[in-house]
Amino acid sequence: MKVKVKVRRFNPEKDRRPYWAEYRLDAQPTDRVLDCLTQIKDQQDGTLTFRRSCAHGICGSDAMVINGRNRLACKVLVRDLGKNIVVEPLRGLPVIKDLTVDMEPFFAKYRAIQPFLINDEEPPFAERLQSPEARARFDDTTKCILCAACTTSCPSFWASDSYYGPAAIVQAHRFIFDDRDRGAQVRLAILSDGDGVWRCRTIYNCVEACPREIDVTRAIGEVKKAMLVGIG
Ligand code: SF4
Ligand code: F3S
Ligand code: FES
Repeated sequence: MKVKVKVRRFNPEKDRRPYWAEYRLDAQPTDRVLDCLTQIKDQQDGTLTFRRSCAHGICGSDAMVINGRNRLACKVLVRDLGKNIVVEPLRGLPVIKDLTVDMEPFFAKYRAIQPFLINDEEPPFAERLQSPEARARFDDTTKCILCAACTTSCPSFWASDSYYGPAAIVQAHRFIFDDRDRGAQVRLAILSDGDGVWRCRTIYNCVEACPREIDVTRAIGEVKKAMLVGIG
C-alpha cells in the first residue's frame, strides 16, 4: 500500500526551528513504523535520525509519538494507522536530532530511586529464596523496559522538570515490594517530597502509553499507600 509518512525533523546544528518533512513510500500492511523509517533512511534520506536496537519491543529504544500517541515504532503496524502516518519525537526531553531525544534526564531520575537490590544482611549459602506469592507482588513492574513512553506522556512531567515521573516510580515499586530488599524506606523517603509520588495527579496517560501494559497508575497508588500506611 502507498503511505505518506510525515516526520517532525530538527537538527539543532543547522535548523533554527523544527519542521515537517513528508515521504511517500510503498509499505506492506504488516510493516511496522520502524520498517517505514528504515526504508526512508535507506532509500530517500540517509540523514533521518532515530534510535532503535532490538526491533522487537524489548530494548525500549524507539519510543516516539506516532499519530499523536506515545508508542514503540517497532510494535505499531502500518495497517493499524492507515495511509497517513505522523511521527514526532517524545515530548518533554531535549531533541538531539529528529526523532532522537536526550534520555539522560530520564535516566538520572531512574538512578535517583536506587534501582538495585539493597540488602546488607549476610547472604545465604546458595541464593535468597523467594516464594511465588512474594514474587507475584511486584511482577507487573518487572516488565518495564525503560522506554520513557509513560513519563513523556505525563502532563505533570511536562509541567515540572523535577518530577521523578511514572517510570522512576514503577522502578521504585519493583524494589519496594520485593521481600528480599531492605531499601524500601530509603526509596519511600526519596519519593515523598513534592517531586515524588504526590506530583502524580492520576491523569492515566502513562497507562495508555505503556507498551508493556503495566498498570502504572496502580503501581504509583501502591507506593503512595506504602508511604501512608506502610508496606502491606
Ligand atoms: Fe516504558 Fe511502561 Fe516502563 Fe514506562 S512503565 S518506561 S512506558 S515500559
Ligand atoms: Fe502522570 Fe500517569 Fe500520574 S500520566 S499524573 S504519572 S497517572
Ligand atoms: Fe527495541 Fe523497539 S527497537 S523496543
